[in-house]
Amino acid sequence: MIRLVYLSFLLHAWLNTCYTTYINYIESAEYVPANLSNVLLYTGSCSDCICQAFFSDNSSKYEVINCYTINHTCLLFPQFVSTSIIRINTNSKLISRQTLFNTTASCSNIYGQCGGGGWNGTTNCCSGLTCTYQNASYSQCLSIVVTTSQSPITATYYDDGRQNASTSIYWDCCKLSCGWPYKASVTNPARTCAQDGITTIDSNTQSYCNGGSSYLCIDQQPWNVSSTLSYGYAGGFIAGHSEWDWCCACYSLLFTSGAIAGKELIVQVVNTAYTSGNMFVLQVPGGGWGGSSNGCANQFSSNYSWGNQYGGFTDRANCSQLPSFLQAGCYWRFDWFMNAYYPTARFKAVTCPTALTAITGCVRQ
Ligand SMILES: *[C@@H]1O[C@H](CO)[C@@H](O)[C@H](O)[C@H]1NC(C)=O
Ligand SMILES: *[C@@H]1O[C@H](CO)[C@@H](O)[C@H](O)[C@H]1NC(C)=O
Ligand SMILES: *[C@@H]1O[C@H](CO)[C@@H](O)[C@H](O)[C@H]1NC(C)=O
Ligand SMILES: *[C@@H]1O[C@H](CO)[C@@H](O)[C@H](O)[C@H]1NC(C)=O
Ligand SMILES: *[C@@H]1O[C@H](CO)[C@@H](O)[C@H](O)[C@H]1NC(C)=O
Ligand SMILES: *[C@@H]1O[C@H](CO)[C@@H](O)[C@H](O)[C@H]1NC(C)=O
Ligand SMILES: *[C@@H]1O[C@H](CO)[C@@H](O)[C@H](O)[C@H]1NC(C)=O
Ligand SMILES: *[C@@H]1O[C@H](CO)[C@@H](O)[C@H](O)[C@H]1NC(C)=O
Ligand SMILES: *[C@@H]1O[C@H](CO)[C@@H](O)[C@H](O)[C@H]1NC(C)=O
Ligand SMILES: *[C@@H]1O[C@H](CO)[C@@H](O)[C@H](O)[C@H]1NC(C)=O
Repeated sequence: MIRLVYLSFLLHAWLNTCYTTYINYIESAEYVPANLSNVLLYTGSCSDCICQAFFSDNSSKYEVINCYTINHTCLLFPQFVSTSIIRINTNSKLISRQTLFNTTASCSNIYGQCGGGGWNGTTNCCSGLTCTYQNASYSQCLSIVVTTSQSPITATYYDDGRQNASTSIYWDCCKLSCGWPYKASVTNPARTCAQDGITTIDSNTQSYCNGGSSYLCIDQQPWNVSSTLSYGYAGGFIAGHSEWDWCCACYSLLFTSGAIAGKELIVQVVNTAYTSGNMFVLQVPGGGWGGSSNGCANQFSSNYSWGNQYGGFTDRANCSQLPSFLQAGCYWRFDWFMNAYYPTARFKAVTCPTALTAITGCVRQ
């Protein structure tokens, strides 16, 4: 089991692209275009979306709404220009960004001139805009509006089937709670190991952290599948449920805060994080041993360093202080996971990828 500390976190971040972008969150929203004929309508299905709204205070700025599936391929409103209204409603979630134009950039903004007889200025339009011929003396930067369907008119963002969760990270080298028999209806308890972290040990063996000789196996680390998808393991807690429900179950976490917002992590829950709200404590080597006694110092040579009790390492370079076979998961934290600070997520249960269950040997029946 995992003992936790709680930390508050800031729910905004600054990004720098061509524009300065402020991100905040609007829970439960509906997009209502002011001029319905200017909306690009997506005719395919778009289940399981997180929507990004780029909107502005007034009509002189560029606006865009995108709606993605988990793999970022489902585009709902690629771009449009209108005086839009973001209206609070019951169902899902919008991630909104307020876009400020970079007026010093060498490009013309929306409605700006980009050509025509006698025009001496730039012929480049800013990102997302196209230089559009009006007449011999005037070309203008416009957002391309493509209408692929005449209906429907209003897009309501529906429930994405996910719930909020907090996340954290740990690596305490202790036996997994779901590594005991009879925790759930599974083929085998989650695999736990002898001191070498490799040899499977009998599931009735007590945890080193409780005076026994069972440890966390070294292969239950996270890894990246693509730039937007990773697999890993976690200690979990789901409000109103028990280990019978979550032991060895898999969950898709769609991060909603920090630099990794929009990325997906699929975890198999093999441990239990006793808390009160939905929580996933990701197993990341060098992520801190939390409230447990430091099993890691015992499991491996005292030559190694494990960082701070909570959060573990603060720098990527510290990963080299771990045993070599634990370094990959530590680097994952600083690379794919971008050392995200307690990111929030929206989660839902999914069928376990066999790549995850092959390592733990635990499959729910
Ligand atoms: C909506 O936009 C279209 C195309 O720009 C325009 O023809 C139409 O008059 C506009 N309608 C309203 C109500 O503003
Ligand atoms: C729109 O916003 C810009 C910058 O915030 C401001 O300069 C401009 O006057 C505004 N336009 C209108 C019509 O409110
Ligand atoms: C992304 O999702 C869409 C819709 O679910 C699917 O058709 C497509 O194959 C997926 N693409 C990738 C690269 O997984
Ligand atoms: C604005 O554009 C200029 C010229 O392209 C660039 O040097 C500058 O860094 C940009 N500023 C921001 C905040 O993106
Ligand atoms: C473009 O530049 C030429 C030469 O510098 C100048 O004579 C002309 O007035 C300029 N045209 C405009 C529209 O600024
Ligand atoms: C070209 O278009 C601009 C913008 O619509 C307009 O102001 C201008 O009068 C037009 N010029 C000619 C010659 O039609
Ligand atoms: C989900 O989290 C967001 C912040 O990310 C919060 O505003 C919202 O109230 C939460 N929803 C629920 C049902 O707790
Ligand atoms: C995983 O991350 C590493 C390090 O950032 C990178 O070199 C590799 O290409 C990534 N693999 C995939 C499948 O994205
Ligand atoms: C610890 O490091 C020292 C110096 O590098 C080395 O001599 C010793 O064998 C190491 N001990 C273990 C248990 O690996
Ligand atoms: C990271 O490594 C540096 C230098 O090796 C060391 O000073 C620092 O204490 C380490 N930080 C942690 C959290 O272990």
